[in-house]
Amino acid sequence: MERSQNAPAIGRPTSTTSPHAGPRTAAVWAVLRRELDRLGDRALTVLDVGGGTGGFAVPLAEAGHRVTVVDASPDALAALTRRAAEAGVADRVRAVQGDGDALAGLVEPSSADLVLCHAVLEVVDDPAEVVGAVATALRPGGAASVLVAGRAAAVLSRAMNGHLDLAATILADPEGCAGPRDTLRRRYDAEGAAALLRAAGLEVEQIHGVRVLADLIPAVVADADPAALLELELTAAAHPPYRDMAAQLHLFARRPAS
Ligand SMILES: C[S@@+](CC[C@H](N)C(=O)[O-])C[C@H]1O[C@@H](n2cnc3c(N)ncnc32)[C@H](O)[C@@H]1O
Repeated sequence: MERSQNAPAIGRPTSTTSPHAGPRTAAVWAVLRRELDRLGDRALTVLDVGGGTGGFAVPLAEAGHRVTVVDASPDALAALTRRAAEAGVADRVRAVQGDGDALAGLVEPSSADLVLCHAVLEVVDDPAEVVGAVATALRPGGAASVLVAGRAAAVLSRAMNGHLDLAATILADPEGCAGPRDTLRRRYDAEGAAALLRAAGLEVEQIHGVRVLADLIPAVVADADPAALLELELTAAAHPPYRDMAAQLHLFARRPAS
């Protein structure tokens, strides 16, 4: 693809372009930045499954990469398109309406350097099928960034809010679902999520907790010293048991090179 004349130096999103420097996504961006740094100065082909309004896609496009977002929601894709245009990266963001469960038919096999699948496996019909399609979309050596809802945090938060029945249901349910009114169909622990990726042939390289503390502490504390919270969040993200009680779990996995 032609790069526009005012395209930035290719690389990683910088802290100045970061809506992503906050504690809620810092652990994910830290892992992605390392991968982008490792790959150096080339425009990557990125696929964002369930990428929504482009919270990750647009900063990656701003960093010079070509991003295809597959999402089921036309409204989310319209917002993505507007956001990409406002950021001046419309030529590097492609919006594709489609169901994650049908991903295999929407993307070219072995084409992506990086696939994001954030906050999607909780809601699709068949997560194993989606992860299989993610693995197929990756070129050999390419990497997947997978973010899933954590079961332990959901149990703790329901209990702390006085919903002991829901906490008990999420704890006991094989899928970690609170019942038919739950907005999520399933939640994961680190081992279960890793097993799902490994079953698709991916090698899990890193697991981090995302929002280990950010959702727990009072806003007044977070606002008083955001830098301290960010540092604490990043430190806790890598270490069980703190990692495992995070609101989300981030898995970084790779399709073997051969
Ligand atoms: C919680 S949002 C996450 C958005 C983005 N990945 C992020 O982390 O900011 C979930 C997204 O998945 C999309 N989605 C839900 N079910 C889907 C499906 N079956 N196939 C594709 N996208 C789906 C929704 O439209 C929404 O944009």
